[in-house]
Amino acid sequence: MGIQCTVYPSHDDASRAVADCISTILREKPTCVLGLATGSTPLEVYAELVRRHQHTGLDFAGASTFNLDEYVGLPPEHPQSYARYMNEHLFGQVNVDRDRTHLPNTRADDLGQSAQQYETLVRSAGGVDLQLLGIGTNGHIGFNEPGTAEDSVTRVVDLAASTIRSNSRFFEDESEVPRQAITMGISTILSARKIVLLATGQSKADAVSAALSGPVTRDNPASFLQNHADVHFVLDEAAAALVPGHCRCSRTT
Ligand code: GLP
Repeated sequence: MGIQCTVYPSHDDASRAVADCISTILREKPTCVLGLATGSTPLEVYAELVRRHQHTGLDFAGASTFNLDEYVGLPPEHPQSYARYMNEHLFGQVNVDRDRTHLPNTRADDLGQSAQQYETLVRSAGGVDLQLLGIGTNGHIGFNEPGTAEDSVTRVVDLAASTIRSNSRFFEDESEVPRQAITMGISTILSARKIVLLATGQSKADAVSAALSGPVTRDNPASFLQNHADVHFVLDEAAAALVPGHCRCSRTT
């Protein structure tokens, strides 16, 4: 199977396609383990899942969730913490069992141990059935920045300067952006049974093209996805603009 790539006319169409993947697995395997991502890209995916829960009874009651990452130094109630993001955009609006929703604990005294425990927790839940990913403009997935090894596991990381700059748009000032995070590693992500990467907008075009068609290299951590058996890149036209023709992305109109 390898990498499949589908290009949609708009961000909304691409988001609905990802919501379809998540809805399907929730119906086929009600006790599924979902790997979830944050950032601006998946917001419409979560909004669509909430609509489907409200209008068609999409059921999260048996599902477990593991988020990719969390900033170090932000309490869960901080407006930019990923815990708050998930509560606002998904968990607080669907019938998921909150005891089965997980984010890395970045408030522990021993962050290294906390990261190891998260890795163990993901694996002891049976691994992730469907992992949702975004991509950073530098090719990061989760907070696995350029330079990350393929065998990396959940751990404490320093954010790249370009990521701090990019994510400063969510904060009053760049100085407020945390410098560290706990993130699942590349090997944690690759152990998911199925991976769906959503990328939209021109700013992602370089990273997407390198991930799909460039060499598999630490310089673009998303390129390690080429080593996975079941990855689906879901793109809009802008994010797909630099993908070479030989990649044969299918297009929907
Ligand atoms: C963040 C997150 C990633 C996310 C990426 C892109 O820093 N850690 O999981 O995929 O950056 O974010 P956005 O969707 O806002 O462009």
